Amino acid sequence: MKIGVVKETAPGERRVALVPETVGRLVKGGVEVQVEAGAGEASFFTDASYREAGAVLVPSAGEVLAQCDVLVKVQRPSVEEAARLREGAVLISFIPAAAAAELLPILTRRNITAFSMEKVPRITRAQPMDALSSQSTIAGYKAVLLGAAALGKLFPLLMTAAGTLAPAKVFILGAGVAGLQAIATARRLGAVVSAFDVRPAVKEQVESLGAKFLAVELAEKDTQDAGGYAKALSAESHRREEELVGRALKEMDLAITTALIPGRPAPRLITAAMVRGMRPGAVIVDLAAEAGGNCELTQPGREVVEGMVTILGPLNLPSSIPTHGSQMYSRNVSSFLAGILKDGALKIDFQDEVLKASCLAHAGEPRVQV
Ligand code: NAI
Repeated sequence: MKIGVVKETAPGERRVALVPETVGRLVKGGVEVQVEAGAGEASFFTDASYREAGAVLVPSAGEVLAQCDVLVKVQRPSVEEAARLREGAVLISFIPAAAAAELLPILTRRNITAFSMEKVPRITRAQPMDALSSQSTIAGYKAVLLGAAALGKLFPLLMTAAGTLAPAKVFILGAGVAGLQAIATARRLGAVVSAFDVRPAVKEQVESLGAKFLAVELAEKDTQDAGGYAKALSAESHRREEELVGRALKEMDLAITTALIPGRPAPRLITAAMVRGMRPGAVIVDLAAEAGGNCELTQPGREVVEGMVTILGPLNLPSSIPTHGSQMYSRNVSSFLAGILKDGALKIDFQDEVLKASCLAHAGEPRVQV
């Protein structure tokens, strides 16, 4: 059984799918791990550290792709990579829905069994494999650092000989995985933090992190689905939310937006008019930029300045903290691998809830809808 790791080829991607620590555990479990030379360099894992962990270093990606039984990647494979992957191999990586139309025909033609880490359900048993959550934790943390760096103010209350500085006011919209980590990070830096989410269940978590939960009465009783995700709001609730957000934003120095409803465009929470009503020097960091943005003025991957307000729409933040991003992803993948490897050999049980939900292609056929 050979597990392959190649250097990521997507522009700007610095993470690596397996770090040496995980490789060591897999090798002890009786599998061979082939790593393309230099695969970990951008996340500061040296070839020597992989070798020490027991990996076989391979000079080129092509050799890994042609030989491995299981290829693990962070980003979806390129068309070229998919076409060079050994027929009948297993692929594990993020595979966004938008890439499926391009990749699925190649994967099915080549009999690849493809698992998407994006599709791992957020159920208790699958938590160790939940790469969306591990990477959102990193994004929430980094969003605060970006906001702090763009702000013309310090975060904490400071009493100095040069006078007293009021603490920065930070507002987090959407208190899921990224939002809760953003709250914790902003609090550690000394800001006064408030947050809003349509799911009242998160109020307690927000308050336990030392932030204030801004509540609004929504028209519907039930704002979350059976999986614990938010549902789209009615027009009346949306109006009430807009009113609350518009009022709160006038006082804020930094807003971080993370609102997400799975499978839908990002809900629009901040209008252009609200941005114009913000304090001079205020900053918005919109984590939902890739899904269309929670702010009307967000442009994915760009910095927009409206009057004296700066709006950042950063993409792929986990790649900007590549050592820990890789470490967490690697542990997620290793937990996933544990579910398909028995005594060093592949044993895939498609009745398993996690495998059923995350398998995109098997035996020449597409599986779950992407
Ligand atoms: P999550 O599902 O854990 O949290 C999303 C939260 O938004 C939920 O608590 C939900 O109740 C809330 N929400 C939904 N509609 C809302 C509304 N109308 N008003 C207020 N709150 C609302 O998702 P997670 O993992 O925290 O990700 C958050 C966002 O960050 C996603 O859009 C994700 O794609 C993005 N992300 C961006 C990254 C980047 O590098 N830019 C990296 C990782 C995640």
